[in-house]
Amino acid sequence: MTAIIVVGAQWGDEGKGKIVDLLAENADMVVRYGGGANAGHTLKVNGQKIVTHLLPSGVLHPRATCVLASGMVIDLAILLAEVRELEARGLSVRERMVLSPRAHVTLPFQAAIDRAANAGPQSIGTTGRGIGPTYSDKAARIGARVGDLLDPTRCERVLEQLIEPWRTRARAIGATLPTAEEAMAYITPIADELRPMLGDASIAVDRALKRNDRVVFEGAQGTLLDLDHGTYPFVTSSNTVAGGACTGVGVGPTQIHRVVGITKAYCTRVGHGPFPTELVGSAGDSLREAGEEYGATTGRPRRCGWLDLPALRYVARVNGLTDLVVTKLDILTGYKLIPVCVGYTVHGEFTEEFPIDSLDEASPVYEDFAGWTEDLTGARTMADLPETAQDYLRMIEARVGVPIAMVSVGADRAQTVACHDVFAGRS
Ligand code: IMP
Repeated sequence: MTAIIVVGAQWGDEGKGKIVDLLAENADMVVRYGGGANAGHTLKVNGQKIVTHLLPSGVLHPRATCVLASGMVIDLAILLAEVRELEARGLSVRERMVLSPRAHVTLPFQAAIDRAANAGPQSIGTTGRGIGPTYSDKAARIGARVGDLLDPTRCERVLEQLIEPWRTRARAIGATLPTAEEAMAYITPIADELRPMLGDASIAVDRALKRNDRVVFEGAQGTLLDLDHGTYPFVTSSNTVAGGACTGVGVGPTQIHRVVGITKAYCTRVGHGPFPTELVGSAGDSLREAGEEYGATTGRPRRCGWLDLPALRYVARVNGLTDLVVTKLDILTGYKLIPVCVGYTVHGEFTEEFPIDSLDEASPVYEDFAGWTEDLTGARTMADLPETAQDYLRMIEARVGVPIAMVSVGADRAQTVACHDVFAGRS
């Protein structure tokens, strides 16, 4: 049996969707463990572009059971729309979905509060999908869980308990709130359609592992957006790290075999917050255009910059990475020299550690690596890559201390260099 956690090794948008989609080809179960509709997975299949926000990226493989686990916050209307869209394309989803009754629900008013708060001076540039308000309601123990809202006898009481405490705050920030009856009228038809998908996510995963099935736990966002280990307060409101899979699903850490970190060959970030290797002006613009770096959920232009090795080593440590996947290597074609951050100076001292608690006072130190001019999009083996591109990858492996399992050189499934089988590990 193999249980693999896939995590973003930067600030999200590393191309996890394509990699999970590839791994799901050989998987029996794909599991989303945290976050909500703030995620946007762009999948390209047979030339067609599909974006999912809540369903796991592995959903496109009809054999795989899709689990939405307890650590998620779920906008049920968006979920239903995604299920219907895939069904309209001929892919059955509901028969193989497990929706945890313990996941929390995001209602439209929580998204409205998120957007209203986002417009203020304290804004960190959220996706406006209601993630922060939903997780804070969960922590305050007034949240509405999927099981509560799908149970007609509990629904209205839980909605009242959720909405009423928001009245004063909502007025102050100019957001309007529904009454519990209005919210109930909104949720009832959605609940009726989703009810058959309810199932215990922890039990489903446990049974799959006992059957020796291959299970892929799919992280959303990236490690540097983790609530505890990211660049707080410029983070999302969930635990995006590998440990989040264990708490979010209800699976013990001893059941996990491999933890795969996905990193771009350079760096991007959307929203506000520190980004030490960011390129501003035309240098950033040309990387953005080459990589088509616009948010899948909000369409916002992504900030772009060079690879940050101290950050990647930090991410390898807090997740316990066993494998790395490097995406978008093809985008670096044409740079004569590729600068990479190899350390920082903080108050005049050089360090190879990522100075997560003093990023404002830290300056990146760069080393230049030789680039290449060849188009990489046709490469399928390491030997197909120019020597300098191979050196760039070997340099990342050596300095992060984690073997590279795959390299992505384009959006299509086929545009991938496989170095070793992630399910088996490097022999
Ligand atoms: P929230 O998750 O919508 O509350 O947003 C908090 C921060 O996380 C903002 O900086 C967002 O831009 C960022 N963020 C949330 N989800 C994603 C994602 O899927 N990709 C990249 N950034 C994200």
